[in-house]
Amino acid sequence: MLQREIEQDLVPWCLAQGVAIVVYWPLLKGLLAGKLARDHVFAAGDGRSKYPMFQGAEWQKNQDFVDRLRPIAVEAGLSVAQLVINWTVHQPGITSTLCGAKRPEQVIENAGGAALPLAPEILAKIDATLAERGAPQVSLPV
Ligand SMILES: NC(=O)c1ccc[n+]([C@@H]2O[C@H](COP(=O)([O-])OP(=O)(O)OC[C@H]3O[C@@H](n4cnc5c(N)ncnc54)[C@H](OP(=O)(O)O)[C@@H]3O)[C@@H](O)[C@H]2O)c1
Repeated sequence: MLQREIEQDLVPWCLAQGVAIVVYWPLLKGLLAGKLARDHVFAAGDGRSKYPMFQGAEWQKNQDFVDRLRPIAVEAGLSVAQLVINWTVHQPGITSTLCGAKRPEQVIENAGGAALPLAPEILAKIDATLAERGAPQVSLPV
């Protein structure tokens, strides 16, 4: 959701050539699952704390973004994680996504997010929320 650079060139090329695209980090290492509080303190050794998307102004913007997704997820009858995964796997050219999960219940929840595409009115609200968020000022590590 927040790293869209491939839409400029790679996605059109893959669509034209019939090449599959597997994206990773759909939940931005848990951030887009909506479970990390604004004042979350990462444990020593948790690599997320070193990423700019988890620091300063970008962190606050990401938290604002997730907060705006919450009522949309409720309206869609999904968890925030499911909403994000659903939106991701139904983007043009995206064929699947690698979801990280640490517990069986996360696997079940995340798999449930890949079902039917979201309704047009839900997609429109997500698009508006993404536009409000704007592009991140930092790149994510690969
Ligand atoms: N270049 C590459 O090919 C490449 C690069 C990076 C990653 N990957 C692969 O992509 C996959 C996903 O990466 P990732 O695990 O780092 O990122 P991710 O899928 O964005 O985030 C996974 C984390 O989100 C949390 N989470 C997952 N489901 C949740 C849910 N339903 N509710 C709340 N929290 C949830 C868990 O954190 P907690 O443990 O805190 O609960 C989990 O560790 C991995 O298999 C990784 O190896 C590939």
